[in-house]
Amino acid sequence: MTTSVPFLPWNRPSLGQEEEAEVLDTLRSGWLTHGPKATRFEEAMRSELGVEDAFAVSSCTAALHLALLAAGVEPGDEVITPSLTFCAAPNAIVHCGGTPVFTEVDPVTFTITPNAAEQAVTSRTKAIVVMHYGGQPCDLRAFRKIADDHGLVLIEDAAHALHASRDDLRAGSVGDLAVFSFYANKVMTTGEGGMIVGRADLVQTARLLGRHGIDSSVWQRHGKHRTAEYEVTVPGLKYTMPDITAAVGIQQFRKLPEFTARRTLIAGSYDRSLAGLPGLRLPTVLDGVRHGWFLYPVLIEPVGGRTRDIVAARLRDTYGIGTSVHFKPVHRLAAYRYVDCHLPVTEQIAARQLSLPCYPAMTSTDVQRVLDALHTIWA
Ligand SMILES: Cc1ncc(COP(=O)(O)O)c(C=O)c1O
Repeated sequence: MTTSVPFLPWNRPSLGQEEEAEVLDTLRSGWLTHGPKATRFEEAMRSELGVEDAFAVSSCTAALHLALLAAGVEPGDEVITPSLTFCAAPNAIVHCGGTPVFTEVDPVTFTITPNAAEQAVTSRTKAIVVMHYGGQPCDLRAFRKIADDHGLVLIEDAAHALHASRDDLRAGSVGDLAVFSFYANKVMTTGEGGMIVGRADLVQTARLLGRHGIDSSVWQRHGKHRTAEYEVTVPGLKYTMPDITAAVGIQQFRKLPEFTARRTLIAGSYDRSLAGLPGLRLPTVLDGVRHGWFLYPVLIEPVGGRTRDIVAARLRDTYGIGTSVHFKPVHRLAAYRYVDCHLPVTEQIAARQLSLPCYPAMTSTDVQRVLDALHTIWA
């Protein structure tokens, strides 16, 4: 059977008239770069997360780089991180001259385990970068304690987890620093973009480093004080988020609760309909977790002629449905194969994991289409 309906992508952003109007307002304002709209977006995130400070940047990768620099990671330092993650954090660690130390994840939540992380601490460890896989936060309380006990900087890679919480702790509010992604496929988007939030002293360092090391922003100099005077106090980089981008972010952030509610509904439909299919393991949400549902990650056991890759190919080629894989473990990527590590749980998950479409732009017909296709494949 080949479908004649349009391809259902793994992900698609939800943008509306509100974002269009805010961008138009910015275009007409005469101020396009990091300025009043970026400040508004930062303030909205800061106050909702209850953190001391926030700085809007060009991507989550930029935010990770700044976070590690602000944490003082330098050559010779080790940084603990899962391997079951996107390459952005390990890449940024390497660019600071640090060494990523890949540690094991929990077989239920796929998030980095506190025990494995604590066992990996050495006298050279400077920081831990945890990652809230798919929108389910890791054990935030345990990681806060490990960081405090060992004098480490805790960085939350919350790229998947804006709006998620665990044990009444909001993802992004527990680390010394946390970073978010607004890449096009994330729970809210600005196309490309990111935010770094956390302790005021560290975010202020990140802010300085992210605007060339200049002691004031262009908006402060030219927009507000009409002066061209500036000083470079440290060699920095250019990572600021432009106001055109922040305009989209302001409106997307307002819609986030509604987006999460829709994602949760879709996840619930998948849970109910797919439970009991042999060899298909559905995501487990721990008690006390508000899941952000960036991903709906299933595991497919290689039984009954069905492997993850066969199911993904059938969904794509026969039913016109896109899926994705999160992730190829970083220690298996060409740039990292030199790293010596033994991560059997990570490898098991990575060989079986498939992300089903789960996003607010999906209609109930789209959801039913995915369910029907999977039931037929499993028949
Ligand atoms: C866990 C994680 N961290 C960081 C990033 C990088 O985000 P960005 O594309 O905004 O740099 C991603 C992107 O998918 C991610 O999944």
